[in-house]
Amino acid sequence: MRAVDIIRKKRDGGALDHREIGWMVGGIASGEVADYQWSALLMAILWRGMDDAETAALTDAMMHSGSVVDLSTMPGVKIDKHSTGGVGDKTSLILAPIAAALDVSVPMVSGRGLGHTGGTLDKLESIPGFRVDLDLKRYQQVLNECGLVLIGQTAEIAPADKRLYALRDATATVESIPLIAASIMSKKLAEGIDGLVLDVKTGNGAFMQQLEDSRRLARTMCAIGRGLGKRMRALITRMDQPLGRAVGNAVEVAESVACLRGEGPNDLVNLSVELAAEMVVMAERAGSLDEAGALCRRVIADGSALDRFRRVVAAQGGDPRTLDEPERLPQPRARRDVAAPRSGVVESLAARPIGQATMLLGAGRARIDSIIDPAVGVILHKKVGDPVDAGEPLCTVYFNDTAALEPAIAMINDAYRVGDGPVESPPLIVERC
Ligand code: URA
Repeated sequence: MRAVDIIRKKRDGGALDHREIGWMVGGIASGEVADYQWSALLMAILWRGMDDAETAALTDAMMHSGSVVDLSTMPGVKIDKHSTGGVGDKTSLILAPIAAALDVSVPMVSGRGLGHTGGTLDKLESIPGFRVDLDLKRYQQVLNECGLVLIGQTAEIAPADKRLYALRDATATVESIPLIAASIMSKKLAEGIDGLVLDVKTGNGAFMQQLEDSRRLARTMCAIGRGLGKRMRALITRMDQPLGRAVGNAVEVAESVACLRGEGPNDLVNLSVELAAEMVVMAERAGSLDEAGALCRRVIADGSALDRFRRVVAAQGGDPRTLDEPERLPQPRARRDVAAPRSGVVESLAARPIGQATMLLGAGRARIDSIIDPAVGVILHKKVGDPVDAGEPLCTVYFNDTAALEPAIAMINDAYRVGDGPVESPPLIVERC
């Protein structure tokens, strides 16, 4: 086979077969296919698309470019959740211990922050000592001991995705639904799961801003998983305003712990419970979503979900005292309130500029090698629909870098729109598929 023939075929709108796709993916490791040839193919895929069979073949080849973990000898049904990314989206930290407390095994391989969105790994690493870089042997031990494990992509998991992701980032080819679907699913399927619940975000703070695109992404990922015999469910959820009240890293860990104590904000608790309930039903631990939802709320109320989180934090080297004494989490040197410019009602609170403001403060990466500041972030006191008096704090900014403060506050001011109302709050869950 020759890369140039395969590129030409896709360029001209043809469908590639699984041998051609497998050969191209194999060529990354063998060196038979140069980066410039993959870059050209990626651009052809972005323009021409891929059908379901091509997307499944690409996922399969990327998944098998590294180790596919075999958890079949471990007891229990292994279910994970994946979110396509948002602002203040910390549901993984809440639902994984909830599901584990209900005897669902949760092997979770998560990512870092991307653009204006936060990443589970960065949040977890704000817990002093917490290690996300476990090898696959320790990954299985922690899963066995705690019923859940929270790690990052290792060199062994889908290495072809790592290479292709870097090329996509550098060639403006990230925004292709088949490429996104294959990238996410190749990593998730390599974890050794039996089923996956997807939280596909839609709205201004999501990568997919249009509902129709979110729907296509959800359906593509479900088709890939089901084609490989996995249990799949996708929820499409709104990401127009941040989820919960905390945006950053340590502040999001503290808010997750508050949720596990039954003290979290309603939108975040409700979505975490909905997603966890889907996992519980998928693992056949409950017969209906209503029953599963009630079980999830019970393990929050009786403390067993928080206990699971405490166990996994200790097993992965983190300081479990941070869960009871949040002041042990990294703290900023200073805090500044942002005051409401007028009295009224918060009509909108755009998630994307809030994410960008926290990134500017140091909570996210401007470059691949940037160092995250775990202590900085924003606490939102007012969200959509809340009444506010002129001068009252809309939010509090946690900061260390004084130079970043004013530009971050300008972005936050742009994100808030305070008007006379009334305000409609559409439901967070748009649909399930
Ligand atoms: N997350 C991934 O892992 N891959 C993508 O392509 C986009 C988001």
